[in-house]
Amino acid sequence: MNQLVDEAIRVLRANDRGRFTVPSEGLYPHQWLWDSAWIALGWRHLHEARAWQELESLFDAQWPDGMLPHILFREDSTSYFPGPAVWGTPTHPSRPPSSGITQPPVLATVLRRLYEESLDKARARTMAVRLLPRVLAFHRWLYRVRDPQGTGLVAIVHPWESGMDNSPAWDEALLRVPLPEDPDSRQVLDSLQEARRDLRHVDGSQRPTDQEYQRYIALVLHFRTFRYDGARVGREAPFQVVDAGFNALLHRANRDLLALLRAVTGGSRPVGDEGDEAQRSTGDHAEDSAANLHGAIREVEGWLARAEAAWPRLWNDELGLYTSLDRITGRPIPVPTAGGLLPLFAGLPDGERARRLVATIQAWGRHCRFLVPTTAPEHPSFDPLRYWRGPVWVVTNRLLWEAVRDYGHEEPARRIAHDTFALVQKEGFREYYHPETGVGLGGRGFSWSAALVLDWAVQTSR
Ligand code: GLC
Repeated sequence: MNQLVDEAIRVLRANDRGRFTVPSEGLYPHQWLWDSAWIALGWRHLHEARAWQELESLFDAQWPDGMLPHILFREDSTSYFPGPAVWGTPTHPSRPPSSGITQPPVLATVLRRLYEESLDKARARTMAVRLLPRVLAFHRWLYRVRDPQGTGLVAIVHPWESGMDNSPAWDEALLRVPLPEDPDSRQVLDSLQEARRDLRHVDGSQRPTDQEYQRYIALVLHFRTFRYDGARVGREAPFQVVDAGFNALLHRANRDLLALLRAVTGGSRPVGDEGDEAQRSTGDHAEDSAANLHGAIREVEGWLARAEAAWPRLWNDELGLYTSLDRITGRPIPVPTAGGLLPLFAGLPDGERARRLVATIQAWGRHCRFLVPTTAPEHPSFDPLRYWRGPVWVVTNRLLWEAVRDYGHEEPARRIAHDTFALVQKEGFREYYHPETGVGLGGRGFSWSAALVLDWAVQTSR
């Protein structure tokens, strides 16, 4: 175990760029939204201030409307495709160039962990009061532009927003995306094969196909034509999916946001053990903002209530999990993926439904040596090599482990932990792993795999 922890620390240090961490040298040379959030959980065991910095640096690129982009381009723009020139997002002198779409909203969840578990309580309070209004702005943006009808569930407009980029759940909706015909767009699409940088780092059998990549870029080109007007993108995007995984993470984040708001405003249910000492040392400015945060409590309660009422629509009894919904056709997407298990992490299912979800995980475990494959192993779209179509990821395992354990299913939780640690011990901190052979796949020296295992190892050794 000590060796694993040392190796995790080595990976984090190697990928550290001062205020932020790259997911993996070469393959992902910039800053990614949900990677950085999870990475902060690793940093906090080494250097608490550095963990806060990792979170705060994400807001360097927050758009005026509240959007948090999924990539912050931090270095020379030719090292990654699609770079800023393809995205063509609005630029601003005080913001790093960025992509124009978002990623799973897990910041509030990480912020709550840092806040509750940090040793320096005064700093934790200052940082929470500073970051909470920005997290709120992000969630407000999500509801405003991605749920304009007020259904309680938000849509993603690009598979990359799900964080589970290549999931087979997106196939059908993605293939419907029209390829733009204007000359500029044609030129980008025609030169795609040479432009792709991912295939220089990872074998093509483990990455999306060219056909899929064409659609990914076509979507970007559509958003460019919409000039990244959030409301228009939300209304007119040719890909609109109510992703069960994204919405589950948003629900969990809203619960964590509510707990934090109550804690910093001295609301009725404080979390953590920050005492008067911490309160006194923060100064007037922080206290002023805390007062403003009070009003947000109702708003977050409203989001939670609306989502709870909407969730049952995503349950698929036949598959024994939640599935996503195509907002354009109005039809459910009956593809069983790990995203459909994540409502467990949000505490959404009741005890009986949680048992069904755990039984689904166990059934997958009878087909695969290593839990949790990202797509059901018996499903025709299952592919043990291609990312998010079967391989095991540390991030999904870490979330499902906690969720299954919290619902009281000790034995399956132990198996998820056991399998994850066996994989990283055997293969190191890879991007993902073959669910049958356990072979490490995708990028190497992967930051969130290292950070989450480090955090997990410390948590379970207490
Ligand atoms: C891949 C993953 C995405 C992650 C990114 C950086 O694109 O699908 O979830 O954020 O890599 O690690």
